[in-house]
Amino acid sequence: MRRLLHLSTLPIASLVLLRLSTYRSVYSTQQLTSLVRSSKSEWKTFLNLTNTSNIKVRTTATKSKLNHTQAIADAFKKGLNISYDSSSPPSSPSLLFHIRNDHNKITLSVSTSSSPLYSRPFRTVSVDSGKSPLRGNIASYMCLKTLNKDVKFLVDPFCGSGGVCIEAGVMLRKEVRVKRDLEMKGWRGYDYGVEGSVCELLKGENLEDIKIVGFDRDRGVVEAAKRNAERAGVADLVEFREGVISDLRNEWGEKGVIVSNPPWGKRLDGGGKDLRNLYGRTGEVLRKEFKGWGIGMLTERRLWAQMKVKETSEEERFSYAGVKPSFIRGII
Ligand SMILES: C[S@@+](CC[C@H](N)C(=O)[O-])C[C@H]1O[C@@H](n2cnc3c(N)ncnc32)[C@H](O)[C@@H]1O
Repeated sequence: MRRLLHLSTLPIASLVLLRLSTYRSVYSTQQLTSLVRSSKSEWKTFLNLTNTSNIKVRTTATKSKLNHTQAIADAFKKGLNISYDSSSPPSSPSLLFHIRNDHNKITLSVSTSSSPLYSRPFRTVSVDSGKSPLRGNIASYMCLKTLNKDVKFLVDPFCGSGGVCIEAGVMLRKEVRVKRDLEMKGWRGYDYGVEGSVCELLKGENLEDIKIVGFDRDRGVVEAAKRNAERAGVADLVEFREGVISDLRNEWGEKGVIVSNPPWGKRLDGGGKDLRNLYGRTGEVLRKEFKGWGIGMLTERRLWAQMKVKETSEEERFSYAGVKPSFIRGII
């Protein structure tokens, strides 16, 4: 439990699975059903397997005789031998099972959370809403790659609803990560006592307290960022201000990093020229005010080039929002 909780609190995680069983040489649904029947008593010791309405199943099949994913999921549920009770609302917490059939070897796992770990319940705007908030685990990854024990300040000049700044705050505030709602906390035998020891483990991450400040030109998103930080339990660690990049001045001195997800992609670009100008201006401000600071940006390479900032990292590409932006690090 301790290990599972520890992994689930890592801010870059999207899914943490506990392996339940592995079956080799499975060629029919009947065979799978009977294997599940014989294993389930063991799972019942900690999972609540009373009603299929609270069970979700995700299945993949590769190069296997049994390759119909729905048939595999149905055979699994049949093996559990639990009835679908449509009269009772889905009980919470729900269980998310993963079934992988690879070369006729079936691996059954249960997820510690029924929704992806990158979803952040404190956000009112979802990552799928089209308003460009950043996925929680990508924002965390950006912070992880740019923060180190010498960094004292993190500034995001295009903070939007606060993704990067809040993730940096959450990274520092270990209790918030450990207290997060996870379905595994509803499993029988979950011991809240392990949370203290996981918190201690996280303290070994060696990140000092830093000052975190986000700016955005849009007053509405700045207000949303403040509310998100409040809900995330890090409002006292993060400051959000309304402001445009041209007015950004370095009030913090040395030893800082700029970590940001500025506008990029066709949807936010008024025909191509607007964003090139914005990045050109951003480069001027950064080179004048933040000389020597580290920088990590999620953006398109053609836009990064407009800033004329020295790049220090290998390119890391993400597939995100239908585009493949790069996470680029450098020294200003
Ligand atoms: C891609 S969004 C950032 C999303 C953010 N990472 C989040 O998680 O919500 C880019 C932001 O840059 C802001 N922005 C655009 N031009 C700006 C400028 N000149 N100065 C400051 N902010 C600007 C927009 O208002 C928008 O919120």
